[in-house]
Amino acid sequence: MAVKTIQWKNDRVIMLDQRLLPHREVYRSYGDYRQVAEAIRSMVIRGAPAIGVAAAMGVALGALHAPEKSFDRDFERIVAILGKARPTAVNLFWALQRMRAVHSAQRSNGVAAVRQALKAEALKIFRGDILANIMIGEHGAPLLGDAKRIMTHCNAGALATAGYGTALGVLRALKESGKKFEVYVNETRPFLQGARLTAWELMKEKIPATLVTDNMVGYLMQQGLIDAVVVGCDRVAANGDVANKIGTYTVAVLAQRHGIPFYVAGPMSSIDIDCPSGKDIPIEERDGKEVSHIFGKALAPKGMKVFNPAFDVTDHGLVTAIITELGVINPPYKKNIRTYVSD
Ligand code: MRU
Repeated sequence: MAVKTIQWKNDRVIMLDQRLLPHREVYRSYGDYRQVAEAIRSMVIRGAPAIGVAAAMGVALGALHAPEKSFDRDFERIVAILGKARPTAVNLFWALQRMRAVHSAQRSNGVAAVRQALKAEALKIFRGDILANIMIGEHGAPLLGDAKRIMTHCNAGALATAGYGTALGVLRALKESGKKFEVYVNETRPFLQGARLTAWELMKEKIPATLVTDNMVGYLMQQGLIDAVVVGCDRVAANGDVANKIGTYTVAVLAQRHGIPFYVAGPMSSIDIDCPSGKDIPIEERDGKEVSHIFGKALAPKGMKVFNPAFDVTDHGLVTAIITELGVINPPYKKNIRTYVSD
């Protein structure tokens, strides 16, 4: 993998600091699970599947250092602290659940066995995510077929996952299949994941791409310049409603208005079958400074009131299909998603 978003090395968690991209490639090395939780919260690492992998590695790291005599109590605290890092991407809670299950299954074998098994599980989650993304690419590329101009929002690439990417994984697979196309990259205010991260990844991959601001989407579609949209997801509810980066809903409404297919790509770990609809998905609200400031410099007058929801929900009626590692889920989502989720 060209981009090393997150790694487990010598019992430390290494992350590429995404806040500094595209201008600086700086790797952070963490030996304490609290640092991992803070890295998730402060967006050193971001993107739903990558957050899940980071949380799993955080638990494994915490368990390595938790003393034997307070191990179970400490384990609960580690899981609770990582669980508070960010609220919307369900992959975080999915990963913690897997780590919890390993703890329960191995507990009777002693602390050393639990530590070992937690580390193995975190690496399994890491590797599983890469494989899932490759499969998402395989399933998704034929759907895009002959689309020549494809829009994406935010960053759902290698940086947002253990590697390869979900929405960008589909585009990588499309390129590997020999198709010629170009990507329109929405800058994705306020955190600029599109301008900073997706643009960087696509340039590295030599996939032709054009950067646009978010408020150009309607114009581009009206001019007939977009053939398809593909985005990632942070949480898909049981009825197919999709939480993704703020602005995704606007893109989806405009796509429907212009008869453009709108695809969502994500691993099964992003599907929350216990969440009936988008109304039940918690939407993270982040520091207003992300809106009022840019790279530490104030844009708005001092004291200006700011609202900064980090995600929105696209209702399932706007989604053409959901691309997963197990296959393409078509409407009606309420019925079809259930057939993909094992009990
Ligand atoms: O706030 P972020 O950068 O973590 O938000 C990321 C997104 O919304 C992505 O589109 C989503 O997590 C899918 S990543 C494969």
